[in-house]
Amino acid sequence: MKKRVLVATGGGDCPGLNAVIRAIVNRAKKEGDWEVLGSINAFDGILVDPQNVIVLDEENVAGIHIRGGTIIGTTNKGGPFEWPVKNSDGAWTSVDRSDEMIRRLQFLGVEAVINIGGDGSQEISKKFYDKGANFIGVPKTIDNDLTATDFTFGFQTAVQEATTAVDKLVTTAASHNRIFVLEVMGRYAGWIALSAAIAGGADVALIPEIPYNLNCIIDKINKRFEKKRGFAIIVVAEGAKSVSGKTHYTESSEVGYKNKKLGGIANQLINELKASGVEQDMRETVLGHLQRGGTPLAYDRILATQFGVKAFEMVLEKKFGQMVAYRHPDIVSVPLSEVANKYNYVNPDSDLVKTARGVGICLGD
Ligand code: F6P
Repeated sequence: MKKRVLVATGGGDCPGLNAVIRAIVNRAKKEGDWEVLGSINAFDGILVDPQNVIVLDEENVAGIHIRGGTIIGTTNKGGPFEWPVKNSDGAWTSVDRSDEMIRRLQFLGVEAVINIGGDGSQEISKKFYDKGANFIGVPKTIDNDLTATDFTFGFQTAVQEATTAVDKLVTTAASHNRIFVLEVMGRYAGWIALSAAIAGGADVALIPEIPYNLNCIIDKINKRFEKKRGFAIIVVAEGAKSVSGKTHYTESSEVGYKNKKLGGIANQLINELKASGVEQDMRETVLGHLQRGGTPLAYDRILATQFGVKAFEMVLEKKFGQMVAYRHPDIVSVPLSEVANKYNYVNPDSDLVKTARGVGICLGD
């Protein structure tokens, strides 16, 4: 009987997930004595009855590296440690099914698990490793907010989408002499907003790491409208906030969804600018999930493929309790203990921020 490795994708989807899956399968095939299983919708596939686990082989991964999303599905609700259950009174609560999951993995003959996901998923990887299970993490997120790796795959594709949006908004803004506020994703990190603002030549970039002061933005707008036919482009990260304000979010009512739903800052900013006397026409564009759907850029396909090959080689080397990471120019492994609950935020003193300031982008401070 072949040795078995199980692959799961958890959290929000991200361009490049399929390229990681394909790379794992193709690398495993070279060994000849391994079978790769995929758990459908993160670890739900292991925990539901009947189980929802598929064999991933050459055939079903052929050509998937160019496809967005994940062929084995994902979820950002619940999970083995907080499995949602409905009480008799109709209210939802959660139970810890992690021990049961380990037993189910043993029953399936799974020797190692490769868990592809963001911060929440890697926390789960660490918890399972601490319980003695053979877990390896692969960092995924368009937000690029995971620590220990220079980049996560999916980030460059999201930046490209956001940059394309800036490029398009420039032409309509210039035609109408308007101000456009483009809200982009990133959670509490401003990587996508800052990168797209530099790449697209925006006038203002507002990121969570640098709380904004409305007057600075108004000064910049006024300068842009000194010309007869002025316009302005503001890129705002969903997690941005003013010096006196709070992050804009709504609580989710979805069962098992623990994250705050960030968003709404573009609209709020326009209202703040109006209330402060800005008279120009202002429009908002919320880019949303367009940033993480669709085909990955070549850069993300390559990084994802490198991560997949490395992850399987870590299985062979029994490097459990570790996560794959990119440390230019190498693909390395780092202990999950160095990753869990730590984040990669934009350093306000970094060269990227200095570059933005250097070309005249207002950071709101
Ligand atoms: O982490 C990726 C991300 O796309 C964030 O940028 C965003 O806040 C969040 O996921 C939205 O996730 P969903 O709509 O799937 O709950």
